[in-house]
Amino acid sequence: VWTDTEISRRLGIRYPIIQGPMGGGYTTPQLVAAVSNAGGLGSLGAYTFSPEQLVETCAKIRSMTSLPFSVNLWVPQPEEERLAFSDADFLSAAKRLAAYRKELGVADPIRPERYTQSFAAQIEALYEIAPRAFSFTFGIPPSQVLRECHKRNILTIGVATTVDEAVAIEAAGADFVVAAGSEAGGHHGSFLAAAEESLVGTLALVPLVVDRVKIPVIAAGGIADGRGITAALALGAQAAQLGTAFLVCPESSASPSHRAELLSQHAYHTTLTRAFSGRLARAIENRFVKESKASEGAITPYPVQNWLTQPIRQAAGKASRPEFQSLWSGQAAPLIRERTAANLVESLVAETDRVLAQLART
Ligand SMILES: Cc1cc2nc3c(=O)[nH]c(=O)nc-3n(C[C@H](O)[C@H](O)[C@H](O)COP(=O)(O)O)c2cc1C
Repeated sequence: VWTDTEISRRLGIRYPIIQGPMGGGYTTPQLVAAVSNAGGLGSLGAYTFSPEQLVETCAKIRSMTSLPFSVNLWVPQPEEERLAFSDADFLSAAKRLAAYRKELGVADPIRPERYTQSFAAQIEALYEIAPRAFSFTFGIPPSQVLRECHKRNILTIGVATTVDEAVAIEAAGADFVVAAGSEAGGHHGSFLAAAEESLVGTLALVPLVVDRVKIPVIAAGGIADGRGITAALALGAQAAQLGTAFLVCPESSASPSHRAELLSQHAYHTTLTRAFSGRLARAIENRFVKESKASEGAITPYPVQNWLTQPIRQAAGKASRPEFQSLWSGQAAPLIRERTAANLVESLVAETDRVLAQLART
C-alpha cells in the first residue's frame, strides 16, 4: 500500500503527501489545517513571523485541526549577520528601485533596526508550540536545537538541494530530508554552495540522495499530480511535497493576480532570479524580473533586497499589477487547477491509485 511509508507512519498522517511550507504568509492557518484534516501534512512557512505571531498562528491552526502539522523556519546564514549596510549603501540600493516605488505610489524606505526576525526567539516559540515536525531550510540549525526538538518529540526535517547537503543534514541528526529539485517554485534553499551551482532536477536528485542517506527522503519540485507522486515513490522517496499546486487553493493567501498568472499560459515560462529577495528563487517571468536581468550582478544581497522589494510587491498585489509581483511558481504550474485544499489532496490520492493500477496492468 503506497500510503503506508515510514514517513506517513512517524508523522501520523494518512497519506505521504506534504503541503510544502510557503513563507511570506501564503500558508494560512486555513490551508495548513485543511491539508492536515484531509490526511496530508499541512506546513506553516513561518520565517517572517515574530515569536508572538508564530504562537498565535499555531493556536489558530490547532483550533481547526487536532491532526499533525509542521512549522518551517529559515536558518540564518553567516553572511546575513555580517551584512552591515552603511547608510550610503542602503540609500543607493533603495535608489535602484525608486522608479517602481514611484509607479506604484510607495513611500521611500527607512533603514530598519534589523531586517529579519531573531531565529533564536523563533526557536523558543517553536519549543513552546511543539508541532509534530519542524522543517528548516537555508542551512542546519545548531545541534542543540535538533537535540532539544528530539527531547520534545518534534520530528526534524532538513531541506537539501544537493547530495552534499542531504549528507550534512543526516549527519546533524535530522529525522527526514527533503530532496528539493530545481523545478520547485520559490527559493532554492542551498547552503553549501551557491544556488546557481546547486541546481539538480528532482528526477536525478531523489535517487542520488536515497542512495547516500539512511533517513527517509521527501521528494519536492515539479510534482503536481498523481503521476508526479508515483514517480517520486518509484525513485525511492517516502513522501511527496507540493508547493505551487497549493498556491491556487482558495485557502492560500496568494493575490488574485498571482493566481490568475499561475493558471495562465505565462506559467509555462518560469525563471530563476535574485531580483526579489537577493536569493535565487523560481518565479513566472514578468517585467520586474526582465528589467532586473540587465543588472543581476548589482542586486543587493538578502536580506536587504528582500526588505526593499517587499513594499513594492505588496502594493503591486493590492493594485493587481502582476508585472511587479513576485509570481513564485514551480515548473509544473501548467498542470495545476483551482480547487480546495481538501479536494486537491483527495484528487492526488485518487490519481496516484489510478496511475499505480495502470502500471500494474502493463
Ligand atoms: C511561494 C513559495 C514559498 C515557499 N517558501 C518556502 C519556505 O519558506 N520554506 C521552505 O522550506 N520551502 C519553501 N517553498 C518550497 C515548498 O515548500 C516546496 O518544497 C516546493 O514548492 C515544491 O516544489 P513545487 O513548487 O514544484 O511544488 C516555497 C515554495 C513556494 C512556491
